[in-house]
Amino acid sequence: MDIIEKIKKLKEKKNAVILAHYYVEPKVQEIADYIGDSFYLSKIAVGLQEQTIVFCGVSFMGESAKILNPQKTVLMPDMSADCAMAHMADVETIRKMRDTYEDLAVVCYINSTAELKQHSDVCVTSANAVKIVKALPNKNIFFIPDKNLAHYVAEQVPEKHFVFNKGFCPVHENMCLEEVLKAKEEHPEAEVLTHPECPEAICKISDYIGSTSGIIRYAGTSEKKEFIICTESGVRFQLEKENPDKKFYFTKTEPVCRDMKLVTLEKIAHVLETGENEVHVTEELRIESEKALSKMLELAK
Ligand code: 13P
Ligand code: SF4
Repeated sequence: MDIIEKIKKLKEKKNAVILAHYYVEPKVQEIADYIGDSFYLSKIAVGLQEQTIVFCGVSFMGESAKILNPQKTVLMPDMSADCAMAHMADVETIRKMRDTYEDLAVVCYINSTAELKQHSDVCVTSANAVKIVKALPNKNIFFIPDKNLAHYVAEQVPEKHFVFNKGFCPVHENMCLEEVLKAKEEHPEAEVLTHPECPEAICKISDYIGSTSGIIRYAGTSEKKEFIICTESGVRFQLEKENPDKKFYFTKTEPVCRDMKLVTLEKIAHVLETGENEVHVTEELRIESEKALSKMLELAK
C-alpha cells in the first residue's frame, strides 16, 4: 500500500481530518482536506465533524486549534515545527505597556504562543488585522509580536497610536530588497505581491500586500500574467495549480520556512497510526487564551 492510500485508510479508521497551511510541502498540500492561510484554518477548525485534527503547520497553529476545540484530539506530524516569531514578545513588556497607557488594546498576531495570547485582548491574522484594529474602541494599540505587520496595519489605520514590538519572521525579514528589484528588472510586466511580514521597504514597492490566501486570490483575479511573489515559496504550488496560464517568480534566494517543511507524509501516517504528538494545553491557559482567539473570530465576521 502506498503512503497516500495508507493515510486515507488511517484517516477513516481514526475519524480524522487533515488541515494544511500553504507553506507546507506540495505533497502534503495535495492530501489535505482543508488548505489555507492562518485565518481560514483557525475558522475551519471550529465545528469540524471529525474527532481528530492532524495539523500540518507549526506549533502555534495546532495550539490554536486545540484552544478552540478542547474536546478534539489535535495531532502535529512534527512536534518540533515551531514559528520563531511566536516567541518574540514577553509578558513583562505587555504589563509595562498596560501600566503606561490607560486605554491600551494588546493586539496579538496569531503567530504567537498561547501564553502571549492569554495576556492579549484580541488576536489577528494578516488577513483580518486591519479590519479588527479599526473595529477596536481603543486609541492605543500594542501590536505583538511582528513589527512588520504592525507597521503595515498602522499605515492603514492612521487614526490609532501604535506601540511597536521588536519581533519578526526570520523568513520574511531576511528577504532582500535588491533581489526583489532585480526580479522587477528582469520581469518588468510582473506585479509584486507581498506578505505584510516583509520589511517596509519591500511593501513600499509592491502592487498588492496581503495574507497568503490574499496573494493567491489576487493573482487569480488580476489581468496580469506575471507575478513576483514575496512570501514563503510553498505558495507556488497553489498559485501554479490555480493559474496554469500565469507565471510566478520568486527572489533569487527563495524564502523557505524550514519548520513548515518538517511536515512529511510519513510523519502524518505515523501520528495517525500511533496518536503520538498530541497537543495539550492546560485548562487554565486554554480558557484564558481562548478569549483573544474567539474575539478575533467574532470581530472578523
Ligand atoms: P498567513 O497564511 O495567515 O498569511 O500567514 C503567514 C505565516 O507566516 C504563517 O505562519
Ligand atoms: Fe513563523 Fe515565518 Fe515560518 Fe510563518 S514563515 S511559520 S511566521 S517563521
